[in-house]
Amino acid sequence: MDTSSTGSSEGQARRHLLGIEGLAASDIERVLDLAETFFQVSRRPVRKVPTLRGKTVINMFFEPSTRTRTSFELAGKRLSADVVNFSGKTSSTSKGETLRDTIRTMNAMNPHVVVIRHSASGAPHHVTQHTSASVVNAGDGIHEHPTQALLDAYTIRQHKKKLAGLRVAICGDIAHSRVARSNAHLLTTMGAEVSMAGPRTLLPEKLAKTLGVTVYDRIEPALEGADVAMMLRIQHERIGSASLPSTREYARQYGLNAARLALAAPDCLVMHPGPINRGVEIDPEIADGAASVILDQVEAGVAVRMAVLWQLCAEATEPLP
Ligand code: CP
Repeated sequence: MDTSSTGSSEGQARRHLLGIEGLAASDIERVLDLAETFFQVSRRPVRKVPTLRGKTVINMFFEPSTRTRTSFELAGKRLSADVVNFSGKTSSTSKGETLRDTIRTMNAMNPHVVVIRHSASGAPHHVTQHTSASVVNAGDGIHEHPTQALLDAYTIRQHKKKLAGLRVAICGDIAHSRVARSNAHLLTTMGAEVSMAGPRTLLPEKLAKTLGVTVYDRIEPALEGADVAMMLRIQHERIGSASLPSTREYARQYGLNAARLALAAPDCLVMHPGPINRGVEIDPEIADGAASVILDQVEAGVAVRMAVLWQLCAEATEPLP
């Protein structure tokens, strides 16, 4: 968790979760351990604890979302926070209001946490300048999606009991994926061996150096012996003029099918952050098959986001439920 030195209206230093880059292994482990407690809360008959009573969380989504938005809302509600959801499309930003004015307006309502998804890389960092709330990055452009990487790590740890030493293949549109970046930072910090694979046009050359991963322009060598295969959707909404194979050709060359999965370790986990394009980056039989933990990722998302909200709002003052 990134700790800002800026004071809040309650006189305490504000903490944010803006990215995975720069987090220590101990920070990551702490969130994952806390998430185990909150995971149990979500499986009880009464899925609610009073821990964040009196706290306000504003979810500001300027890009579409199913999983992240719903799970942040559920996470806040299961902790008894007051949760307000804000959609860019139906807000006054559609009348020309700037992000800065929008944030200052939300800040005037005294939230404790602002969760933001935005198409501009760095938008959450900008938001910290205009609010006294803690800020959580729910995905910014092609930069980072920290809670996705945390829930992915939680899911891997749940099944493999460890992260260190695992071989993780991240395959697909690497260039435009904030999920790939956050996962590379997290998994390498935790001692996993990460490889990335995709078409050359979706695989920036300098990535291997900056992220400390091995890159391939075919997915087969990345999948060989892999403990985890993490498939990514092509981010058509972020691709400008990059030349791409047709969907059919992409599926033929880069889609995860039974033959390709057979190259991986026998107990390889198949992951996908969603949304899935069935039959493109992943065969339906693999997405729904025995190796798939895609819905486990979704369940973990609520627990991880509860842990993050609890850390930002209550760690200093409240006992764990
Ligand atoms: N994984 C993910 O961010 O999904 P959504 O876009 O549905 O939130």
